[in-house]
Amino acid sequence: MPSPKINALRLNHSLEDLGRIGHTDQGMQRVAFSAFDVEGRAHTMDLMRRVGLEVTIDPAGNIIGRRDGSEPGLAAIALGSHIDTVPSGGKYDGALGVMGAIECLQTLQDQRITTRHPLEVLVFTNEEGTGFPHWLFGSRAMAGSLAAEDLTAVDQEGIGLETRLQAIGGDLSRIHEAARSPGELSAYFELHIEQGPALDRSGTPIGVVTGITGRAAFEVEVAGAANHAGTTPMGLRHDALLSASRLILTVERIASELEICRVGTVGRVSVSPNATNVVPGTVAFSVEFRDVDSNALTAAEAEFRRNAAEVEASDGVSVDIQALPPTIPAPIKPEMQDLVAEASANHGLATERLPSGAGHDAQAMAAITGVAMIFVPSIDGISHSPLEFSTPQACADGAQVLLDLLLLADQRE
Ligand code: GLV
Ligand code: MN
Ligand code: MN
Repeated sequence: MPSPKINALRLNHSLEDLGRIGHTDQGMQRVAFSAFDVEGRAHTMDLMRRVGLEVTIDPAGNIIGRRDGSEPGLAAIALGSHIDTVPSGGKYDGALGVMGAIECLQTLQDQRITTRHPLEVLVFTNEEGTGFPHWLFGSRAMAGSLAAEDLTAVDQEGIGLETRLQAIGGDLSRIHEAARSPGELSAYFELHIEQGPALDRSGTPIGVVTGITGRAAFEVEVAGAANHAGTTPMGLRHDALLSASRLILTVERIASELEICRVGTVGRVSVSPNATNVVPGTVAFSVEFRDVDSNALTAAEAEFRRNAAEVEASDGVSVDIQALPPTIPAPIKPEMQDLVAEASANHGLATERLPSGAGHDAQAMAAITGVAMIFVPSIDGISHSPLEFSTPQACADGAQVLLDLLLLADQRE
């Protein structure tokens, strides 16, 4: 039997309202730990309380909204995502999963439906890892899989995690208490926009996610020698930007020409001293490789390091490569995929099975519970951009499937 109808208008209003917090002419700027993020979190907690959830913040800054179930002793079913955005991002990435979850809870409350299992809405801290370069931070904390480097890192403004967490109600000294034990949650479901072109191209309303990509990310620093741009002969230069450029091109080649891994990106570069009349002395840049196969990521890293050694030798520069904690690919169990397909069929919504090229909190949560992900189409496959858009109907379809999915899961043990 299909679940009660969610209120599509209300859901889309919630998305619009949240989308005003951090909106600028250059897109969404609700980067984790920013003033906009703090405002978005307060707004979201307010909505959660209005649907009757008991709201707490764990030491990792994750927002947890809980509602009791009718049968004592059952583990909670969790729904969630994130509300932080990349710089100049869109208003659907993450936000749909959170506003969709709140809409499901509101619908249950309106219909006076109590589930057997307790329910939780989870809003994870710093999923994007752009403000503070350690992504899936909150979900990895909840899964107990933070690495030592996650805790000692400082962000681009030189501010450490302790201060950042304090600003959002977290507490670094108790971070390990954010970990939930396996068995505490009976499942985690995440609704998300696809962020790629497959569903939009095929005209399929619902994507059943089969697995989530892994990511190997690095901070690279090339040190050359700053010198006068007018007096230093070309043959005597150690131009860090030229050497970095050669390496940036190898990242592209590793993924496209050599096809060692699915994608490779350099998304951030900073040049020092960054002046017109100075030969660049140092350049720092980010590198990330993604693939659903861990071996492909290892091979991409090895090829990149080999290229870096070549550039060091040929250009007389030094290249320092620091690996960030890797994110392992997370396959989604076939029975969880089938549950999403069943929930969609209950509403006559066609499905397509597809892997996720983006990272998600669900992949961290997969370490402690069964996860499922529902995708809805992204128009023209655009995301991490102000042009990111999913239609009101697509968002509503996704939330409807999320509600059905949770009710189906509630019938299970
Ligand atoms: C997260 O959104 C990512 O895949 O970069
Ligand atoms: Mn994102
Ligand atoms: Mn996201």
